[in-house]
Amino acid sequence: MSYSDGLETVIAAHTVLSDVDGQAGRLTLRGWSLDQLVGRTTFESVVRLLFDGFFEDLPKDLTARIGQARLQVYREVSAIDEALVALPVVEGVRALMARLVDGDDLTTALTLVAAPAVFTTALIRLQAGESPILPDPALSHAADSLRMLHGRPAGPGEAEALDAYLVTVCDHGLNASTFAARVVASTRAGLTSAVLAGLSALKGPLHGGAPGPVIEMLDAIGKPERARPWIEAALERGDRLMGFGHRIYRVRDPRADALKGAIRRLAAQAPQRPGRLEFAESVEIAALEILKAHRPDRPLDVNVEFYTALLLEALQFPPGAFTGVFAMGRVAGWLAHAREQQAGGRLIRPQSRYVGPEPLRAA
Ligand code: CMC
Repeated sequence: MSYSDGLETVIAAHTVLSDVDGQAGRLTLRGWSLDQLVGRTTFESVVRLLFDGFFEDLPKDLTARIGQARLQVYREVSAIDEALVALPVVEGVRALMARLVDGDDLTTALTLVAAPAVFTTALIRLQAGESPILPDPALSHAADSLRMLHGRPAGPGEAEALDAYLVTVCDHGLNASTFAARVVASTRAGLTSAVLAGLSALKGPLHGGAPGPVIEMLDAIGKPERARPWIEAALERGDRLMGFGHRIYRVRDPRADALKGAIRRLAAQAPQRPGRLEFAESVEIAALEILKAHRPDRPLDVNVEFYTALLLEALQFPPGAFTGVFAMGRVAGWLAHAREQQAGGRLIRPQSRYVGPEPLRAA
């Protein structure tokens, strides 16, 4: 039996949901390329696209159902105590989501789609000493998420920018969190269990925990001329540059440019921190040059998290909550994959090779 470190060469699922072409730098979601979707469709439409065929009685437009689900989920906000507020936001979101019913139906799924937005924004506000804001079910998921975050209606271009982000990250092949969700779904545990597994895998810095540290890196660099020495010193210490490298992409992650486009569209409608995008671009250029020299054997390009950090910063999410915002989008993919696994997949149960000591023989 063959062994593959990190399961790199293993195909562990057949899926109709998304395809990551790492050589061409292409992402396909149910027959649509990423650039056909981002900036042209809403998060709700993409949830529907992913859920199609996996749930009975799926309405044509999910906006109202997801809005109602936000309202239902908000009841759990009253369970937030000081101990939860003291946790990192993504851990608080996970604890609150663990209280939700573990079903397999559309209502459970839409509750789980709604929950990360309601809990992330409520926890951000509570951490800032402000009161959580009741959802408005009449708004789109993106517009209401921003309203629940800021306590005011989304400004020009903001809801479109958050929609672009949520659509960009909604699904991505068999990434670590989606695999975790599929493993749990393969045991026939419910959708809440599968989503909690996904969320736990997402939080690690090699996966969805990277964009917060991207902001720390940019702030530590401070000026374009400090980029090269800072990056060289980091690599000398053996650190990884957050927002660079990918298991599948050997070229630029297409999601990075989709998000850069969203940042530019937002900046055209609402004033942004002057020079921030240009500064980030200069850091990216320096990083790519240095990584090329550092690892000529291993193509290391920019990934989604670098421009995620810039976009979520522009929308004024605090960096400590970026992983919770990632979950707001990726939850759609976890749920669709969990249903696909439940529908056709066997229990996922690979083997391990024992390399420990043999039992001692009796003398
Ligand atoms: N900076 C410096 N060196 C790197 C980086 C990086 N960002 N990424 C990979 N390497 C090196 C790594 O140190 C390793 O070297 P060695 O062979 O000497 O140990 C080599 O490249 C291969 O690394 P690996 O961990 O085997 O490669 P992987 O394909 O499993 O890594 C990765 C993928 C995303 C975990 C990695 O590139 C990384 O740690 N990046 C930084 C964290 C990050 O940006 N994460 C977000 C990923 S994109 C969002 C998502 O889809 O999850």
